[in-house]
Amino acid sequence: MPVTVVILSCLLAASPLTDTQKRRIAGLSGAMQGTPDPTNEAWNDPTAALLGQRLFFDTGFSLNNQVSCATCHDPAMGFADGKPLPTGLAKGSRHTPSLLNVAEHRWFFWDGRADTLWSQALHPFERAEEFGSNRMAVLNRVHDDPILRTEYETVFGPLPPLDDHSRFPENAGPHAPSGSREHDAWQMMTPADQQACDRAFSNLGKAIAAYEHRLVPPPSSFDLFVTAMLADDHKAMAAYPDDARRGLLMFIDEAGCRQCHYGQLLSDLEFHNTGVPPSHGGLPRDAGRWEGIKLLQANPFRASGEFSDDPESIRALSTDSLARNSELWGAFRTPSLRNLNQTAPYMHQGQFKSIREVLDFYNTLDTMVVLDHHQETVLKPLGLTETQLEDLESFLMTLSSPKLPAELGRKPGSSPGIDQIETVD
Ligand code: HEC
Ligand code: HEC
Repeated sequence: MPVTVVILSCLLAASPLTDTQKRRIAGLSGAMQGTPDPTNEAWNDPTAALLGQRLFFDTGFSLNNQVSCATCHDPAMGFADGKPLPTGLAKGSRHTPSLLNVAEHRWFFWDGRADTLWSQALHPFERAEEFGSNRMAVLNRVHDDPILRTEYETVFGPLPPLDDHSRFPENAGPHAPSGSREHDAWQMMTPADQQACDRAFSNLGKAIAAYEHRLVPPPSSFDLFVTAMLADDHKAMAAYPDDARRGLLMFIDEAGCRQCHYGQLLSDLEFHNTGVPPSHGGLPRDAGRWEGIKLLQANPFRASGEFSDDPESIRALSTDSLARNSELWGAFRTPSLRNLNQTAPYMHQGQFKSIREVLDFYNTLDTMVVLDHHQETVLKPLGLTETQLEDLESFLMTLSSPKLPAELGRKPGSSPGIDQIETVD
């Protein structure tokens, strides 16, 4: 390493932080719990969370009785699956994101095609490559299971009278392939019965979201550093490693990461096209946010729709006014940079196996795929040295939290309501 770099690094580590640096650093940390969701009145209800946790670990909702949410969102792997692309009933085309701190996001999925956590949770049930089930089969399972039904009715009131099979078929749903028996059976239901079932279905999403709201791990060593910095506690600040501190200063300044990775999740919560090469080679085929907006605005379970508990909220209204411009073609949501130690591989198709591969991409942009008319121009090759890349990686690793309480990572016990989830505060 050149002598000047060594001297400079020592100076940086030793020098006090400027007010601008402190402000930027403080902006990357903060309380992560309890951002309310006005579109889901049950978001903080303990019985709803318990029901949601049961649903999350239940394989009985999938067509082959083998797939649950936890198949792909495995608590032992940061609620991701460790694979580039997931397999449920079939192989998916996008990488499974971690669910740690997920409630802090503004849009869900890589393309943001859900605007609430509860509406996101409805997708897997009816998607062919995830659970491959149908709406009435899902509701019937809750209806026929004494524990699920008791907890559901405690929070949301009575289920529709699903015993009456002349009105409520055992298998039916709007997303079944057209021409199939399930599709026709759904069409035969009266609009009022369809609507009652849609509402019950949306309530299952609200229960799952209440559980997901609790997936908030304890503060990371970076958060402890920020707390010490704000308290002017130099002794506690000294516990933070020097290489991570150098990486942090690079992150908020010369490496330009903060342009998109800011706020407590180190994400602007919005969408960018960074030109990461698709894993199938050639040009990208995934339209990302461009398609996501269209799907979101057509979804009856969106925040401004009839199943939302606050269709007039700012969150709801902003969905309806989203505009699609060509820059959004191939744009994906900026991921959180927390808990990267648990969530490899990275990017929307799991293209990069390690953080080092991600950093090499940003450093050279050698493999970047540029689509002429719709591409962001913020990214420039960084030309960082080996030591600087190691510093950046050390910083990113300090964003990893200790594990969640074990009770949140497993199927709850078998008595309704008794086995309450411990809160994580
Ligand atoms: C077959 C694997 C698989 C199963 C099963 C599965 N997921 Fe996912 N999940 C994914 C993938 C892949 C994505 C990203 C898809 C995309 O962006 O288009 C995702 C996205 C999500 C997101 C959005 C996260 C974010 O940061 O935006 C949440 C929340 C989520 N899943 C929860 C669930 C729940 C709840 C269930 C069960 C009802 C479930 N998942 C079942 C693979 C799976
Ligand atoms: C123009 C906005 C932008 C800038 C600047 C930017 N990123 Fe990203 N970052 C993104 C987006 C968008 C993705 C997801 C891209 C994808 O999956 O195709 C991403 C993905 C990542 C990931 C993978 C996370 C995961 O879980 O998959 C890491 C790590 C990362 N960025 C770190 C950095 C670092 C370090 C810098 C600075 C050198 C940086 N980013 C600069 C927008 C940006």
